Amino acid sequence: MKVRKAVIPAAGLGTRVLPATKSMPKEMLTIVDKPAIQYIVEEAVESGITDILIITNRGKGIIEDHFDRSPELESRLLESNKNNVYKDIVDISKLANIYFLRQKETKGLGHAVNCARSFIGNEPFAVMYGDDVIFGREPVCAQLIKVYEEFGLGVLGVKEVPEKDISKYGSLKVEHIRENLFKCTDMIEKPTPDKVMSLYSILGRCILTPEIFDILDKTQPGAGGEIQLTDAMKILAVSNGMIAVDFEGKRYDMGNKLGIMKAAVEVAMQHDEIGESFKEYLKEITKNI
Ligand code: UTP
Repeated sequence: MKVRKAVIPAAGLGTRVLPATKSMPKEMLTIVDKPAIQYIVEEAVESGITDILIITNRGKGIIEDHFDRSPELESRLLESNKNNVYKDIVDISKLANIYFLRQKETKGLGHAVNCARSFIGNEPFAVMYGDDVIFGREPVCAQLIKVYEEFGLGVLGVKEVPEKDISKYGSLKVEHIRENLFKCTDMIEKPTPDKVMSLYSILGRCILTPEIFDILDKTQPGAGGEIQLTDAMKILAVSNGMIAVDFEGKRYDMGNKLGIMKAAVEVAMQHDEIGESFKEYLKEITKNI
């Protein structure tokens, strides 16, 4: 079955980016001139996804506004002949069929994904973490969908993380299949050093099959007292196996301050409008570092 739906969990509290995230969802933090979540929606659309459910919570209404029409702004842009910007602004609201659902309590990523059950029904679907912006030559979600179509199993977007950091991530047990593909047969969230299975960790994207929902129903709170998606995916990995893809792409973690700054600097350097002058500016200010 084709993967045509995606879930973007965007209901976290963003405590690592306070005070910015006190009233501003981290998914709406900008990388130069677009909020993080718009890059993610664009990746989904370029990957063939037509229906997207964004999981939000209280105070995240501006995410809905961003993907809506904005009549006052649009007529002002037309009046002042800003036709290109006008088109960009209107196009945002036409990217895909975008739906919103509130996660009423912030009980973890697994709980957020489980809120999508009735939207997903009985289909495979993509999960795209709302604070992970990834730029690939081919969209990362499309890279994962291809692998799903070949194997018919859940697919995990993975990268090796530095050994000193693995305890902050999940760790996967993997066997090499070919090139950048691995079979994943077990995993653990936030492992202590003696429980590390490999340095491969799920970063921001996966394709899941609908069996995950019955598993999530039974998943008890794990690391950090939250219902962890990793704990549910572990059951799928141990029983059916999953496929891990060491994807091609550069990932920016918009959930921490350094990640946000790296994204801003690197995207600004490539930006059509300001790229060249920004690079000049960087050269100038880095002379004295
Ligand atoms: P994170 O653990 O990175 O988000 O979740 P967080 O809880 O906001 O992070 P802290 O507070 O800085 O540690 C990964 C993704 O899952 C979403 C987040 O919005 C983020 O996109 N999430 C997390 C939910 O939608 N609901 C939750 O209950 C937890």
